[in-house]
Amino acid sequence: MNTSANPFLDHKQRHVLYGDAHRLTQRTSALSAAKISGAAVAEVIAGLGPSRPSCVLDVGCGRGGTTAYLARAWSPDHLTALDASAAMLDQARARVTEHAPDIAGRVRFVCADFHDIPALDDHVDVIVAAFCLYHAPKPGTVLAEFRRCLRPGGRIILVTKSADSYAALDELVAASGLDPDATRRPSLYESFHSGNAETITAQHLRVDTVAHHQHRFHFTDAAHTARYVATNPKYRLPQQELDTLTERLDTVLRGHGVATDSAVTYVVASKT
Ligand SMILES: C[S@@+](CC[C@H](N)C(=O)[O-])C[C@H]1O[C@@H](n2cnc3c(N)ncnc32)[C@H](O)[C@@H]1O
Repeated sequence: MNTSANPFLDHKQRHVLYGDAHRLTQRTSALSAAKISGAAVAEVIAGLGPSRPSCVLDVGCGRGGTTAYLARAWSPDHLTALDASAAMLDQARARVTEHAPDIAGRVRFVCADFHDIPALDDHVDVIVAAFCLYHAPKPGTVLAEFRRCLRPGGRIILVTKSADSYAALDELVAASGLDPDATRRPSLYESFHSGNAETITAQHLRVDTVAHHQHRFHFTDAAHTARYVATNPKYRLPQQELDTLTERLDTVLRGHGVATDSAVTYVVASKT
């Protein structure tokens, strides 16, 4: 795997991707506005956990949307939200304080790398890692670290996407000439995706269930599509200005929108 060809695996890119919340906020907002089907991820995760775990670790918590939801749904005694980005943790802290004020006092925000988690051995009841293991060139090493932290019988809930997620947008970006190689670039999710997540997890933990959910998106027009395309680090775009991107995308879309798909995969595993 050539890690420098995939910005999600290139640790030098981490600051560009997550040094502040701007890119992720824009990407999430463009994607949420486009979503037309697919179950809400935080709700699915909450349903896959035990009813009231005592000690929970949310790895790669990002802006904290899932953290806040799980804080309310599970009301654990201790919830640790871990991320390598201090900027993301600031957002997560604000979100938990706003949406789960009763539980906020039981939530810790920890800036750390998921390869080296500051937690005791055999301690955590539930680890959640949503949309972050594809940032590890070797996700198995992170799963071994998760296993160390988990108590015997504890549960892990992993969430990732299909390698071909949003393929229709790759075709559109290539056809518009913005990035003629868009369809040939490696998937951002190549190290841990719907097709390999179960096999990689089974090398470290007992896999209990695997579920694949189809999510469908419809970007209403070129301007909406441009807002998402500008946030996708897979593309090598000649310029980032939204007006220019919109114009170029519209040479293909001609006033129409574009639909695209992504599978979201949930792997639930436990430490025997
Ligand atoms: C797409 S966000 C995940 C958001 C969140 N889990 C959710 O479901 O909404 C990916 C997060 O993984 C974090 N991340 C990437 N590499 C990491 C590492 N080596 N250790 C810890 N966090 C990492 C990033 O900082 C980012 O906040």
